[in-house]
Amino acid sequence: MDSSDPQFWDSRYLSGQTPWDLQRVPLALVEHLKQLGKAGAVLLPGCGMGHEVRAFHEAGWKPLAIDFSAAAVARARETLGPLASLVRQADFFGDEIKGRYDLIYERAFLCALPPVRWPDYVTRMVQLLRPGGVLAGFFYYGIDPDGPPFPLGTDQAARLFTPFDLRVDRAIPPEQSIPLQAGYERWQEWHLRP
Ligand SMILES: C[S@@+](CC[C@H](N)C(=O)[O-])C[C@H]1O[C@@H](n2cnc3c(N)ncnc32)[C@H](O)[C@@H]1O
Repeated sequence: MDSSDPQFWDSRYLSGQTPWDLQRVPLALVEHLKQLGKAGAVLLPGCGMGHEVRAFHEAGWKPLAIDFSAAAVARARETLGPLASLVRQADFFGDEIKGRYDLIYERAFLCALPPVRWPDYVTRMVQLLRPGGVLAGFFYYGIDPDGPPFPLGTDQAARLFTPFDLRVDRAIPPEQSIPLQAGYERWQEWHLRP
């Protein structure tokens, strides 16, 4: 099955096969949250269980978390309780997501998309970020091309993210990642040029 099909993900959430799920807010997000600039609107695309929604909300941000898998959205809403309305079922590439965000948070979303869709991902990020906005989060620079997760290469990232400047780039300590990504994850902040 194709990872650009919501059913691919529904079947994983429904059968409990979610090895990418950290079951908590990633430590590096907690560490970087205060340095991400003035709290504003943040989009969390492909949010899965949405653990980070509460962290952004409590830090004063206005989060909108989206996922195109109905099963993921149901799980996220269950986890978030009173904050459930911050999660919406939507396709990142569809028309229902509008507006300009100050920040877009990435974790295990880009690497979940077939690489053929990566140029579309960058185009969509540019549409959804305000000029000067930031795409920040976790990027997977693995070696096994048989995804998902599909690994990004350093040169490939530089070619893809041409409208952006990479201002923060930090390796994630292996013990903070899920086993499959240990040693291959980086926290990166890509700033959209005004
Ligand atoms: C590997 S999971 C990561 C989930 C979450 N970000 C995390 O860190 O646990 C990838 C998620 O992206 C979602 N997804 C894939 N393509 C999408 C799209 N076009 N629009 C919205 N969500 C999408 C999937 O349903 C899945 O929940």
